[in-house]
Amino acid sequence: MLAVARIERKQHLEPDDVGAISQLLAAATAADEHQPLDDHTWLDLVQGGRGDFAALVAWEGGHPHPVGYAQVTRGADSWAVEYVIDPHHRVPGNTVGVDLLAEAGRLIAQQGGGHVHLWVGRSGPQSDRVAAAIGLRPGRTLYQMRRRLPVEPELVLAPLPPTRAFVPGRDEEEWLEVNNRAFEWHPEQGGWDLATLKERESAPWFDPEGFLVYEDGGRIAGFCWTKVHAEHDPPLGEIYVIAVDPGVSRRGLGRGLTLAGLDHLSRKCVPVGMLYVDAGNLRAVKLYVDLGFVVNHIDQAYVGDIAPG
Ligand SMILES: CC(C)(COP(=O)(O)OP(=O)(O)OC[C@H]1O[C@@H](n2cnc3c(N)ncnc32)[C@H](O)[C@@H]1OP(=O)(O)O)[C@@H](O)C(=O)NCCC(=O)NCCS
Repeated sequence: MLAVARIERKQHLEPDDVGAISQLLAAATAADEHQPLDDHTWLDLVQGGRGDFAALVAWEGGHPHPVGYAQVTRGADSWAVEYVIDPHHRVPGNTVGVDLLAEAGRLIAQQGGGHVHLWVGRSGPQSDRVAAAIGLRPGRTLYQMRRRLPVEPELVLAPLPPTRAFVPGRDEEEWLEVNNRAFEWHPEQGGWDLATLKERESAPWFDPEGFLVYEDGGRIAGFCWTKVHAEHDPPLGEIYVIAVDPGVSRRGLGRGLTLAGLDHLSRKCVPVGMLYVDAGNLRAVKLYVDLGFVVNHIDQAYVGDIAPG
């Protein structure tokens, strides 16, 4: 008979916990070719956590290591939940995921309840069931798309738009204006402030040479920000953020800037281009499909409300 997992709640992780959970994350990343948790949340928790975090560690009798892990974060107006199950414990009928989510649901209810977002990488029927265990239903769908590099010359229909590297300390304000106008409707990419941008600029992967800026009349009018995932095998070159100022859209600039970003990545000998796009962003999806990108996998958000309890 399959055991029900014992779930430990923690506000702070001891070095032993961090070691054991890091091993679990590494095993899941290798099995799924996908990082199971948001890096920032995990690192914050490892570095001591704050009051608005909780870690849930799942144990099963007979196994000296955690069999699953979830983290719950209270945001400004909603809760974020993420979970990961040891690849060896993803057998039919195993309840680790459901047990972790049930505990997350109890914790959120005890803290006053609220709106909940659960992001699952490489989602499927199993994650649908786990989310349903606490009444969450599918929300946003994100495609991860990829294509081999370099791009075939016949796809380059016009000369690439001239771009320059982003200049830290000078371009921030103007870039933020364009980004926030183009992504006004977007829950995560819109409404960025200087602190958010500076935080990305200080990330180890940040490279201004890969942050291509296009100017029109001396003002930033579009950009293609790339990010190289050198640790991935094979290395992936991500189109991290791309946008065109709404005032100059539909002139072929989006296509040109995507190609310019891919060209930059090819020159760095990155063999695969990758990007994330909302399934509902039909303009962008059409653009990427036209450029030979295909869906590699789907990440799914599950959403719902938990009553106080
Ligand atoms: C997606 C985006 C970069 C496209 O830039 P753009 O300069 O308008 O696009 P292009 O002129 O190069 O057009 C590319 C294709 O998209 C299509 N397209 C562009 N705008 C469109 C619109 N409003 N409705 C339908 N299709 C549209 C065009 O038909 C074109 O295909 P075609 O070559 O067959 O005509 C731009 O719309 C944008 O910045 N959007 C907001 C930010 C965003 O969504 N970024 C992508 C996140 S993954």
